[in-house]
Amino acid sequence: MPQLLNLSRAARLVGVTRVALQKKIKEGLLPSFDGMVAAEDLLRVYPDVQFEDNTAYERVAQIKDRAFGKRVFERALPDKEVLAARLTGLARELSLAQSSLKRYRAAVDGVEARLKSWDRAGGELQAAASSLRMWMQRELAAGDSGSGIPYLTMQDNFLRIMAAHVKLQPSGHEFFVEGADTLLEAALRAGLALNYGCSNGNCGQCKAKVVSGEVLKVRPHDYVLSESEKAAGQVLMCSNTAVTDVVIEAGEAETAAEIPFQHVTAHVKSIDPLGDAMLLLHLQTPRNNRLRFLAGQNVVLQLGHSISAEFPVASCPCDDRNLQFHIHNTPGNHFADYVATRLKKGEAVTVEGPTGGFVLREDSTRPLIFIAFGAGFAPVKSLMEHAMALDSAESVQLYWIASHEDDLYFSNWTRAWADALDNFVFTPLVAGSDLETAAGRQKVLIDGLLQRIVEDHPRLSDFEVYVAGSEPLLNVAKKWLLAQGLPDAQLVAGMVR
Ligand code: FES
Repeated sequence: MPQLLNLSRAARLVGVTRVALQKKIKEGLLPSFDGMVAAEDLLRVYPDVQFEDNTAYERVAQIKDRAFGKRVFERALPDKEVLAARLTGLARELSLAQSSLKRYRAAVDGVEARLKSWDRAGGELQAAASSLRMWMQRELAAGDSGSGIPYLTMQDNFLRIMAAHVKLQPSGHEFFVEGADTLLEAALRAGLALNYGCSNGNCGQCKAKVVSGEVLKVRPHDYVLSESEKAAGQVLMCSNTAVTDVVIEAGEAETAAEIPFQHVTAHVKSIDPLGDAMLLLHLQTPRNNRLRFLAGQNVVLQLGHSISAEFPVASCPCDDRNLQFHIHNTPGNHFADYVATRLKKGEAVTVEGPTGGFVLREDSTRPLIFIAFGAGFAPVKSLMEHAMALDSAESVQLYWIASHEDDLYFSNWTRAWADALDNFVFTPLVAGSDLETAAGRQKVLIDGLLQRIVEDHPRLSDFEVYVAGSEPLLNVAKKWLLAQGLPDAQLVAGMVR
């Protein structure tokens, strides 16, 4: 019987993304059976895989770790109890396999002894028995050596100890639970918009049903599940982790409208300059009152009693405690002035929201193009981190268009991504001050910079395009993109003030 692996685990084993495997399946190069692939087929398609060096996967994991602000060692090892349960499960499987193996070996020895007893039978029976014995000896001597399967199995067992695979119903979304994460934390880290409230075992909104597999309570909770809920397999995702691979029935937000409007009091963690004209404001929410939002959405930040402004969240919802904002520090901007000169580390900031529909279309697997004008980079960064966490886009290309080189204030970060990821391309485009006038915009964009995008991608209709920036720039870009044949349904625009 072939050894079958689910797609997510198979991708990890050979060090490629899930999307890359799906592409092989679509192209007919890799057979799949109910979302599973056979180990033999995987090794045939990736014959050169180095089991000791899954560099591609490691690079993606490191980038995700950086994006999510978690230290690597915190993420690596499972909780002690979970580790013990997984090792016990594996030891049980191993001992069952060993006792089966002993029984098969005894059966094979018995068959061989019977075949041997026909050595003197003569005629066709003796010839058939002898040929069968020789075949059995050859097969047993050959074993699996050199096929790569034992290494794949060893690596698979190791991954099963380090991370459990979760499949959600009815969406079919999948993710891994690693380190000491709860089911909820791991799902958010994977970019999924699960239903939840407090993240802290109080509200019951993260209730979900375990359809198969084993979970373990790793965080205390005050919310009381009724006996009938427990009997039906209901658990709190924010208190439990996965011990084995599990299937879970859980509610997920499908649209921005399903995310409730919230009021959260966060505190300033840091304020840092991003070049000469931009500030990076990092807020942290309380552990038990985080902000639930979708990548690309906006919130209103209230400083003191009288100063407030709306900003896109520049960080990923996969780390819902740490919220980042890019504040344009231009003369006359009272909010930016207050942040630069008066706001201090530890001070309270009220966060209200989220609002806005500039969010990722998760049902599409088309390659993604992001076009960010100036500070439009903030929501685009959040969307790109989200797309990376979801691992569902075949490729991601970012065009960041700004008046001056200095306005590409996060280009080191984007260049580092482009260096590390095979499926991410970054193209910085400097427009000059023409971008600031109506006539100049028309000329520099239509006759110049936007042309570059169609030169790179003559069939725009194959892509989903996300464009963010100020209203005048958005209007020019939208009109032009639609005129190039991009279907309206594949264009998502987000206005940044
Ligand atoms: S999110 Fe509130 S109990 Fe889990």
